[in-house]
Amino acid sequence: MLHTSYIELSKHALNHNLQFLKHKLNPAVRYSMVIKGNAYGHGLESILPMVEEAGIDHFAVFSVDEAMRAHKIKQKYCEIMIMGFIDDEYMEWAIEHDVSFYVFTMERLRAVVRVARKTTRPARIHIELETGMHRTGFLPHELTEVAEILTKNDKILFLEGLCTHFAGAEHMGNFDRVTRQLKRFQRTCRWFHDFGLKPRFRHVACSAGLLNFPDSAMDLVRIGIANYGFWPSEETRMLHLRENGNLPRDPLQRVLSWKSKILSVNHVQEGEYVSYGKSYITNRDSLIAVVPVGYSYGFSRNLSNLGHVLVRGKRATVVGSVNMNMMVIDVTDIEDVKVNDEVVLIGRQGNNTITVSSFSDMNNSMNYELLTRLPQEIPRYRVD
Ligand SMILES: Cc1ncc(COP(=O)(O)O)c(C=O)c1O
Repeated sequence: MLHTSYIELSKHALNHNLQFLKHKLNPAVRYSMVIKGNAYGHGLESILPMVEEAGIDHFAVFSVDEAMRAHKIKQKYCEIMIMGFIDDEYMEWAIEHDVSFYVFTMERLRAVVRVARKTTRPARIHIELETGMHRTGFLPHELTEVAEILTKNDKILFLEGLCTHFAGAEHMGNFDRVTRQLKRFQRTCRWFHDFGLKPRFRHVACSAGLLNFPDSAMDLVRIGIANYGFWPSEETRMLHLRENGNLPRDPLQRVLSWKSKILSVNHVQEGEYVSYGKSYITNRDSLIAVVPVGYSYGFSRNLSNLGHVLVRGKRATVVGSVNMNMMVIDVTDIEDVKVNDEVVLIGRQGNNTITVSSFSDMNNSMNYELLTRLPQEIPRYRVD
């Protein structure tokens, strides 16, 4: 093993999730898989070929660098959509490679017009509408000017999409706000239609949109976290269970497992501090093991004295502070622990599982952050 840990990606789990999610959609709806944040930490270069094999041909990224990575690795025909960052100097690349991108300011719209006058093909743009999130998107008073620019430049601008993003569809506490957003969006789509502008796709739904607000799956859905086997929130999972009955097993299966191995095993007497500082003192003669994974590899320092890992199918607690490259675990109650034993940081071993959210007492929304913090350098291997 060259690296101190590795990630396994389950093709079976991925296919299962895609099937479950696609089953919720009318087949005419285009399925865009969100692969931003290094494919939610799973590794863009590793995931993309796996999902291409599963028949996905539309990918959503945040930035132009991610679009370039996806474009380089793709084996088949597929569409790439940039939902966020693209500097003017890279618009030409995007347009010439048929990569579509969001436009949400007048400056960007004018820049596209300037660049698209010189390119050999039209720019495929998604006009993002502000409907209540107040992050990015055109405001209502800007729409007439937007529509006029689109109409005047219809030879060089192709209206690929009208879109918006929900401000928290994963929590029912946001029900009113999200419903209002959807209504505003639909109203604005009609307004564009009456203006004579018909987008190729109207799109709103993320994972929680599709699962909690099925009406929001319009012409295209942008699904991220659920592809990878995580519910956008515990609430979403419970709602799903309530509507579909208690299923024998979770319909979403985790794609990623993260593993390492034991670096050393040591006896420590009762009353000794472990790791830096004084945050942990043994209250019995203990057997502790060192795992060569620390916060520089994405195992948060917040998990000091809190996190769990699996060794020999049993749960071991992280003791003392998580260091940059190592952590210490208490294996006193686990029999026969040896150097080189497999350590599961996320995933299953024996009858036990460590889910990302059970890293400690966190809620599911932390999944997004923990996953995307997994460094790109950790090798990813596919398992079928
Ligand atoms: C604009 C946009 N669409 C879709 C998604 C996918 O969301 P999720 O991972 O919850 O499915 C995101 C993720 O943050 C997003 O920012």
